Amino acid sequence: MRFNGSTIFETISIISQFSLIYLINNNTKPAISLHSIVNIPSMKTITVGFPLIHLTSVDSTNKYAARLLHQEAVSEGTVILADVQTRGKGQGDNIWLSDSGLNLLFSIILKPDFMPAHKQFYLSMGVATGINDFLLDLGIQSQIKWPNDILIHEKKVAGILIENTILSQNLHNSVIGIGINVNQEVFPPDIPNPASIKGETGKSYDVLHILEKLLPFLEKRFNQLYSEDFIAIKSRYLNCLWLLNTRAVFTDQQGTYEGRIVDVAESGELVVLTSGGETRLYGLKEVEFSGY
Ligand code: BTN
Repeated sequence: MRFNGSTIFETISIISQFSLIYLINNNTKPAISLHSIVNIPSMKTITVGFPLIHLTSVDSTNKYAARLLHQEAVSEGTVILADVQTRGKGQGDNIWLSDSGLNLLFSIILKPDFMPAHKQFYLSMGVATGINDFLLDLGIQSQIKWPNDILIHEKKVAGILIENTILSQNLHNSVIGIGINVNQEVFPPDIPNPASIKGETGKSYDVLHILEKLLPFLEKRFNQLYSEDFIAIKSRYLNCLWLLNTRAVFTDQQGTYEGRIVDVAESGELVVLTSGGETRLYGLKEVEFSGY
């Protein structure tokens, strides 16, 4: 199934900027001096959702996207949506469970080949902030639990799994897998702290309509990324970051201590300042929140 009609998606054009300084000399004749030529960022803009491949059932939309990329030329912005996944992938070795037809399960294919691999966490921040923007538009306040879980009232409503391939130290293909609990209200007992949009608003939603609403928010963040507006993405990410500057108890390899999250490094590592004044950096699964 495909969306048609250009009203659904908006392409954001990026205007290149030259820094020109206009000087007025004593004779009031205007002189123009070229101050500097800034590195023109990538001029590429992205439209997300064309084409949209809608599958009734698949092992995993991320795996389907990877197979597509392997087999044929796929255009950037392609979205693979599934009603149900038989082997949905979560972070690490986790599986992503979702009842059939109730939730949003999809992957987006991007080709951010201008991006140095060491900046890939910006992509993750862009996706997480795009989902937050969308939820806010629905009237829902959400937060990002580092690195990229989306929380409503400290319960997980959405998960993101980004799988990148790297070529010559730059990103090559990115498969951005997103699972959002939309209408599901009852979850298996082994899913820790699940939330859903319906659980928050009490309303049922058409999943395809939710996708149609969400994609422009993601597209906006991708275009920000492609114009290398990293500051905008990071500041929004920090704004939404759960526990930022909040005193809390953390547990790492060395034990349990009090501290607060103060930043996220460009590498994607979480930066925590202990109450003793020590700065500690963490990768995935290296630190746990243990209470307030
Ligand atoms: C997480 O563990 O938080 C990440 C979950 C990502 C799940 C989504 S659902 C759509 C896409 N396809 C997958 O197999 N996984 C992602």
